[in-house]
Amino acid sequence: MSTLTLPKPKGFGQTSRRDGWWVAPLLTFLGFMTFIVYSTWAAFQNAHFESGPYLSPFYAPLLFGPAESGHVWFPLAEGATHPSWYPSFLPWSPAFLILWIPGGFRFTCYYYRGAYYKAFWADPINCAVGEPRKSYWGENSLPLILQNLHRYFFYLAAAFIFLLAYDAWKGMWFGPAGEEKFGIGVGTVILWTNVFLLGAYTFGCHSFRHLIGGFKNSFSQNPMRKNCYDCVSGLNKKHMLFAWCSLFSVGFCDVYVRLCSMGIWTDFMIFGGNG
Ligand code: FES
Repeated sequence: MSTLTLPKPKGFGQTSRRDGWWVAPLLTFLGFMTFIVYSTWAAFQNAHFESGPYLSPFYAPLLFGPAESGHVWFPLAEGATHPSWYPSFLPWSPAFLILWIPGGFRFTCYYYRGAYYKAFWADPINCAVGEPRKSYWGENSLPLILQNLHRYFFYLAAAFIFLLAYDAWKGMWFGPAGEEKFGIGVGTVILWTNVFLLGAYTFGCHSFRHLIGGFKNSFSQNPMRKNCYDCVSGLNKKHMLFAWCSLFSVGFCDVYVRLCSMGIWTDFMIFGGNG
């Protein structure tokens, strides 16, 4: 029996591949960079994150904010720009208090890790393509061992889905405080679509799949658990799709609310509402 040896790529970027192996990492890099730059800019704005009953998901839940907001948990005192315990020499935005949770969840996600390891530090840049380094970094020591925090981020991210759903529900009540009427605007549809996509991404998480039944040797005694496991597995199969769709939707929600708040876009009512 003869043995076939494949040529090993030597230098960075060297390969025998003739397909467009560089397209996927490049698109991933551009997609992630666009989101990172925009979301950082939006978080620092501390303005235009509400429009009518809509709240941008970058600021949800709104822990501290103006008393007149319909979404705020702890209203700031009149004239205060931030909570009294917050160091006044630091820039303030209510988004800073919460964005580390969805950010940490995505940064440590198994899918995203595979994608940005390729796109951002070429480790490897693609299969059978030469790497820029000879050593294997692995995830066994600091800082990458912290990626194991993903399972804990999952609990926080799952709670966020319910909080976002609550704010999307509030986005169905139009009009001044005390006189709100139920309605559905274009923004309502956009916010609920975002909740759906984020939920599909979050509950398709590999950690959740393990939590829901991955450690069981037999499902025969527990058909309910089996059904839940199958549901999570179904979402898990499309994890990459939901990762990208939800990334786009959460960013677009902020754009929509922001532009409506600035008067550049108009939110049209589909049904009901208050005037
Ligand atoms: Fe992607 Fe958990 S593996 S969210």
